[in-house]
Amino acid sequence: MKLCMVGTGYVGLVSGACFAETGQTVICADKHEEKIHVLEEGGIPIFERGLEELVQRNVEEGRLSFTSDVKEAIRQATIIFVAVGTPPRGDGGADLSAVDAVAQMVAENVEREAIIVLKSTVPVGTNARVRRLVQNAPHRVHVVSNPEFLKEGDAVQDFLRPDRVVVGLDEDDHFARDLMARIYHPVCLDKNRVVFMDPASAELTKYVSNTMLAMRISFMNEIAMLCEKVGADVHAVRHGVGSDGRIGPKFLYAGPGYGGSCFPKDVKALVHTGREHGLELELAATTDRVNDRQKGVLFRKLKAHFDDDLRGKRIAVWGVAFKPRTDDIRESASLTLMDALLADGATIVAHDPEAEENAKQRYGDRVSFVEDAYDAAKDADALCLMTEWRQYQNPDFDRLKELMRRPLIVDGRNIWSTYGLRAQGFIYDGIGVRGN
Ligand SMILES: NC(=O)c1ccc[n+]([C@@H]2O[C@H](COP(=O)([O-])OP(=O)(O)OC[C@H]3O[C@@H](n4cnc5c(N)ncnc54)[C@H](O)[C@@H]3O)[C@@H](O)[C@H]2O)c1
Repeated sequence: MKLCMVGTGYVGLVSGACFAETGQTVICADKHEEKIHVLEEGGIPIFERGLEELVQRNVEEGRLSFTSDVKEAIRQATIIFVAVGTPPRGDGGADLSAVDAVAQMVAENVEREAIIVLKSTVPVGTNARVRRLVQNAPHRVHVVSNPEFLKEGDAVQDFLRPDRVVVGLDEDDHFARDLMARIYHPVCLDKNRVVFMDPASAELTKYVSNTMLAMRISFMNEIAMLCEKVGADVHAVRHGVGSDGRIGPKFLYAGPGYGGSCFPKDVKALVHTGREHGLELELAATTDRVNDRQKGVLFRKLKAHFDDDLRGKRIAVWGVAFKPRTDDIRESASLTLMDALLADGATIVAHDPEAEENAKQRYGDRVSFVEDAYDAAKDADALCLMTEWRQYQNPDFDRLKELMRRPLIVDGRNIWSTYGLRAQGFIYDGIGVRGN
């Protein structure tokens, strides 16, 4: 029994490699020929901890292969996962054209009774829509919703040790249920983590999870603004609030606004789904608006430090990825900052340990990228910390002070707020923290 993963991006490659690790024979298919070429040559097109060894081992042991012939991969498979992108459309809804294209290909090429598993994040109703697309296939195609909850940066661990696996299918679909239970059994050995439910609930669960997490972040970003007004410290508030067992400590960090390929688009898509059904989801819509405003926070702080005039200022930016341990820059707050700085005539020298290539593709020579983080700080009028990579946690501040033209630090992640930087002669500005 072969498993085919259509879409070999962050989700598809990790999921495919992890299923292979549990003994399945997996073929990863992608229409992006260059990506498949890199994988066939033994390379990994993305940065994700632990993925390279996992892919190499499973390729060597014959359980994992790659192809750009998507139709052929579908022909061979009994379980066909759809892990293609579902980017936002202009109106906030999800663009389902890639999902539709794969469903159509399945309808035309399937060679046995099979299941199509929707792992991409798709709005409520997509399972039903895909059913219509595959209903005239030459063999029965069962449609299952199985949204993915992995986090970039911890994706392999998240996949192999999930909090839960959500599977949406018809109650009487024993064929699909048995296959899904079996393929996830190896990652649920200690207890059954597969939560079966109806497809619409499974589809909605993914959006609700992401929106709730995003809402916590946006709420704390608002509270950070209030902290600045009233002289409180958002670190202390977070600690106090997060210690409450009913609330918990995660996703309460104030910062430059959430980014990535999921939260921004999924919150918008949930709002859009509500509107399609005549419902204004006020909390979700506000979460999105608050985040948009927050993404401008570092730029506004910089402007305030330079009397509204950033022309000719040299700004060092540490971190372009939307979070540490990934090279993904999609919707990163760092991009919002750099776009605004460029528009205002500032010069940017940026550093990121893994995302430099992706950032260069976006900015070309409009932004200078350096290999050594300290080179970015040389002659800088300000240093902005945008991604809390571990190597930025404890830099040599004496050296930074010598290198910088003006010792202004704008700490978008609040990682240096307790380091006594003001006492060392820096001008320190964080997000809702007092600093010292
Ligand atoms: N990235 C995450 O952390 C994450 C987490 C959970 C869920 N998701 C969801 O998973 C889905 C995929 O996300 P991603 O980050 O892996 O995207 P991605 O852009 O990294 O990868 C998508 C891949 O699909 C391929 N593709 C597109 N159309 C295709 C087609 N018709 N046939 C074959 N391949 C095709 C693209 O070439 C690309 O390689 C999205 O719906 C996303 O919302 C992402």
